[in-house]
Amino acid sequence: MADPEQSTTPYVDALLAYSALDPGRFQVPGHKGGLGADPAMRELVGDVGLRNDVPSVTEGVDIGPEPTPFQQAQLLAAGAWGARRSWFLINGASQGNHATMMALAHMGSELVVQRNVHSSVIDGLVLSGMRPTFVAPEIDPELGIAHGLTPASLEAALAATPNAVAALVVSPTYFGACADVAALAEVAHGRGLPLVVDEAWGAHMHFHPDLPQDALAAGADLVTSSTHKIVGALTQAAMLHLGHGDRIDDAVVDRCVSLVETTSPSGLLSGSLDAARRMAAVHGEALLTETLAAIGETRTAIREIPGLDVLDERMIGRPGIAAWDPLRLAVDVRGTGSDGYRLAKAAFYDAGIDLELYTTNVVVAIFGMAEPRAQAERLVAGLREAVAHLEASPGSPDEKLMPPPPWGELVLTPREAYLGPQEVVEFDAAAGRIAAEGLAAYPPGIPNVLPGERLSAETLEYIHESVAHGGYVRGGSDRALRTLRVTRA
Ligand SMILES: Cc1ncc(COP(=O)(O)O)c(C=O)c1O
Repeated sequence: MADPEQSTTPYVDALLAYSALDPGRFQVPGHKGGLGADPAMRELVGDVGLRNDVPSVTEGVDIGPEPTPFQQAQLLAAGAWGARRSWFLINGASQGNHATMMALAHMGSELVVQRNVHSSVIDGLVLSGMRPTFVAPEIDPELGIAHGLTPASLEAALAATPNAVAALVVSPTYFGACADVAALAEVAHGRGLPLVVDEAWGAHMHFHPDLPQDALAAGADLVTSSTHKIVGALTQAAMLHLGHGDRIDDAVVDRCVSLVETTSPSGLLSGSLDAARRMAAVHGEALLTETLAAIGETRTAIREIPGLDVLDERMIGRPGIAAWDPLRLAVDVRGTGSDGYRLAKAAFYDAGIDLELYTTNVVVAIFGMAEPRAQAERLVAGLREAVAHLEASPGSPDEKLMPPPPWGELVLTPREAYLGPQEVVEFDAAAGRIAAEGLAAYPPGIPNVLPGERLSAETLEYIHESVAHGGYVRGGSDRALRTLRVTRA
């Protein structure tokens, strides 16, 4: 380990020292270190958790001589991930995407965005008021899932958006596909623009040489990282990392992170980031070596289950895939004659295993950075049992579902549509109107409609058909999709 400082956890130590001091607590939170906690809360969080539930603005933790333990912890995170500066986020990678959009809005009003971004990026567009030019990811015609963006697609979108101030892409995908981030950065930088990467799923990649290159190392300028996902900080805890170029002002990012953050960040969440950073920086390579070996064996065992196959490095070279992250164990279920939805339900109810994601053709099991081997064995046994319980479905829905129609013209910015005058109309009467909310049919989950886009009869028909084929739709305020929120002329 190059930097011995990485073995320390200054923020966690400061919290523990504060608790050990056992001061009379005459500040928030009102449970006073657990003295005033309901028994159910004690059961849920435990005495230790309650004692260490220390808020921000605490002497010796995040106020006092600088760098405070909180600042030291963020400096260590920047060192560990190779960033110019890192911010702890206590509202997930979603907060990182919101802050990113607000920061980019300081530079101008237009940007290029990969179409199948997480909803938090769209929410960031609503918050910031920026006008996006969307770029389609590569869709896998066999599997019906989306991969990354190609450099050529990005180049074309930037050429069509001369006032763009940045480009935002997603890599890795939920399934493990990594785009050629270095080439994408080259394209953006060639026009003097920063490349922003939503690397929510890739916080672990920096810590093992056999994993795909992480976005910062590939030249990205600002990277959202969902540290709670695979590296394993507490749920909700994430980071935003600034690259070493000078295309984005760190003071601007800083004020935008504050803008979208509570004034009472949880010490437990921030402390979990400090601890997860140490684990990744000090032990990450060794832990990942073991986890990768377990994944290798698990892949082999899953392939031996009749009807199942595993998506792996053989995917590299398909459009939009330059590398593969194995910590998402993506299983192709087409050979079972059933579908991912049924398999995931059987896995949960009949075999006691909870999978992260399911689409028509693929289910995904997540491996943590330090996955115990016994867990991997449980996955294989559970999948075997689930397959045995599966009912065959009458053909794969994707075979019958028509391809999605082109998305509608962006008439208003997402912010104008979301906040402007609006009304609720019958779903079937919405064609021709401008959407005030987004809709994404799963699978594959690429938004069919975003706020500000004109709704076409074909798109509404597609969404309807997608539900009829067993899919589901996210985004609408009426979850039953009887009505839609549209702008009022
Ligand atoms: C690509 C991507 N970005 C951002 C997020 C948001 O992450 P969080 O849940 O940490 O807010 C997710 C969540 O799944 C995601 O998949």
